Amino acid sequence: MDYLQIRVVKIEPDIETDTFDCGNTDLNAFLKDDALRYFDERMAVTYILLYKKQIIAYYCLLNDKVTFDTGQGNERLLWNRFNRKNKIPNPKRRQNYPAVKLGRLAVSMHFKRQGLGRFILDGIKQMLIQKTDTGCRFLTVDAYSTALSFYLKNEFQYISSKDESENTRLMYYDLKTG
Ligand SMILES: CC(C)(COP(=O)(O)OP(=O)(O)OC[C@H]1O[C@@H](n2cnc3c(N)ncnc32)[C@H](O)[C@@H]1OP(=O)(O)O)[C@@H](O)C(=O)NCCC(=O)NCCS
Repeated sequence: MDYLQIRVVKIEPDIETDTFDCGNTDLNAFLKDDALRYFDERMAVTYILLYKKQIIAYYCLLNDKVTFDTGQGNERLLWNRFNRKNKIPNPKRRQNYPAVKLGRLAVSMHFKRQGLGRFILDGIKQMLIQKTDTGCRFLTVDAYSTALSFYLKNEFQYISSKDESENTRLMYYDLKTG
């Protein structure tokens, strides 16, 4: 695929979303039925990747915050280590850190395992690293259990072990390491 030919556009009524298929019914339905309403209600912005006029992938972004449960064993250790390594102001009194959430990410069945997911994540990371108008330390995602390896390969980490057996796990990427 020629990546230079990919266009990224925000969701709008004229885009034909019905035929997009990433293999996941919920993610297909979100693009078709909900993405515009989320945009209109300022709840999430959906970005669509077009290649030769067809939708090859989409993702959503929304503001978020990471709350570390400092009372919990492995989270407290993780957090102490994070605060020691960085020069965060008032670390002892701080529980919340500013973030942006990757609400959804879906690649068309025809384009999977060709590096498109990584290309999208790299683009989002770079965009957030360069955008300094508001504070944002982390990129977060509620990762499907089937996609955990994908996010680990893209340098995301688990926040807690509490959601180990859930269908989704909360993960973060530290934008300062980028
Ligand atoms: C998960 C998804 C976004 C990955 O996109 P992709 O374009 O296929 O991923 P890439 O080709 O960029 O893969 C990057 C790396 O992750 C690996 N990878 C991709 N999907 C994987 C999966 N489901 N499980 C394990 N590893 C995976 C690739 O093998 C590749 O590894 P490599 O660098 O060692 O070669 C895509 O498969 C998808 O849309 N899945 C259905 C919806 C979904 O699960 N979305 C995530 C919601 S949280």
